[in-house]
Amino acid sequence: MTQTNSRRLSLGVLGAGAAAQWYYMPAARAWSGSIVLKAICDLDLQRARHFASKYDIPNVYGSYEEMLRDADIDAVAVLTPHALHAEQVLIALEHGKHVLVEKPMASTLAEARRICDLADSKGLYVSCAPPNMLHPGQKRLMQLVAAGAIGKICLVRNTRSSMGPGSRPGAPTDFSWFYQKGAGGMSSMAGYGLIQMTAVVGPVKSLSAMSCTSMPERVMRDGPAKGKRVEADVPDNNVMVFDFGDDTLGTMDTGYVMMASESPSMELFGTEGVLSVWGGDQVLRLRLYKDDWNTNVAGWQNVDISGLDSAWAHHASTLLSLADAVLEGKPLVNDPRHMVHVIEIIEKTWVASESRRAVDLSTTFRVPSWEELPDASTGPFALEFHSVGRR
Ligand SMILES: NC(=O)c1ccc[n+]([C@@H]2O[C@H](COP(=O)([O-])OP(=O)(O)OC[C@H]3O[C@@H](n4cnc5c(N)ncnc54)[C@H](O)[C@@H]3O)[C@@H](O)[C@H]2O)c1
Repeated sequence: MTQTNSRRLSLGVLGAGAAAQWYYMPAARAWSGSIVLKAICDLDLQRARHFASKYDIPNVYGSYEEMLRDADIDAVAVLTPHALHAEQVLIALEHGKHVLVEKPMASTLAEARRICDLADSKGLYVSCAPPNMLHPGQKRLMQLVAAGAIGKICLVRNTRSSMGPGSRPGAPTDFSWFYQKGAGGMSSMAGYGLIQMTAVVGPVKSLSAMSCTSMPERVMRDGPAKGKRVEADVPDNNVMVFDFGDDTLGTMDTGYVMMASESPSMELFGTEGVLSVWGGDQVLRLRLYKDDWNTNVAGWQNVDISGLDSAWAHHASTLLSLADAVLEGKPLVNDPRHMVHVIEIIEKTWVASESRRAVDLSTTFRVPSWEELPDASTGPFALEFHSVGRR
């Protein structure tokens, strides 16, 4: 893989919106031992200038091509609306830059494959959000499953829904694009649950699904677009049924119709016990149910998770894994081939829901063992979690 001679990863930020402001720019500053912000680009030049000044970023651009051509950077963080990702990642790779890309890496399976092939052929890394594989809770979850704590997994119940970013207070930008063509609850939310679930249970072999638009009009709650009404032209309510092979099934709901929920985000039902996973996008709390037939003792217990205050628990940890890969040659456990499988699941969900038939998947990925996931006792110090209100 292409490495940099520098001790630090020089980064250019593409898109100075919410994700950049809430997660990546504060993280890069906090982790300045391994990352340096060198350039920022946004179509809204005034926004880019404002954050350049706030974060001491020396080079400001209104044109992405110009940033790629002129700025002395090793990598680009692609933090723009979903429909732009694939093309922007491909251009960065063409310019010899490593990439961090927010979810989803691409909108279609064909684009996702092209990205992986180009990165491989050029010896460049593509670090994909969401960051679930880097999170200490995911490591603990995978460790328990590998140790046989719940035996063979028979059924997975997964829920990854919200009301969407436009429903939250404190929006720094106009979030209406999240509800429209090229984006939607599926491309925004599904990745968290799908990465988390498939890392534990393995690739999906086939799926069926139903999708609809339950709330065809959305009103932006806060921020510069407060009160703006938009037509939701992507399904906002999606339910999938998965066959993982080996007589293991699963379900998942995802989209923008869930104001709140008192359920765990994921439950794994095994032959020897049950694991429930709590914590929205991450694994912040784990509960294990065991039933001992010899003693007649059964019940739930909390499972300890260490490292929840480490940098690996932060949303921007994909930046750290990119720096580790580029600077130290460490393997990227948030592997883009895993994301290729997730993107195929999303693509096949549309096919299944339109045809009302089960659809087979063609992609797979190497499931890493829990021991390969980051050690939360190492790495730069933690950042405070950005609070975006209730989800
Ligand atoms: N908003 C959230 O809660 C949140 C949380 C986690 C991850 N994300 C992800 O982060 C990514 C960005 O989302 P966001 O919420 O920051 O969106 P946003 O709308 O707040 O920001 C996007 C920025 O990209 C800029 N932009 C658009 N097209 C551009 C172009 N061609 N060249 C340069 N700049 C361009 C916009 O001007 C805007 O500043 C998405 O993939 C999203 O899923 C968002």
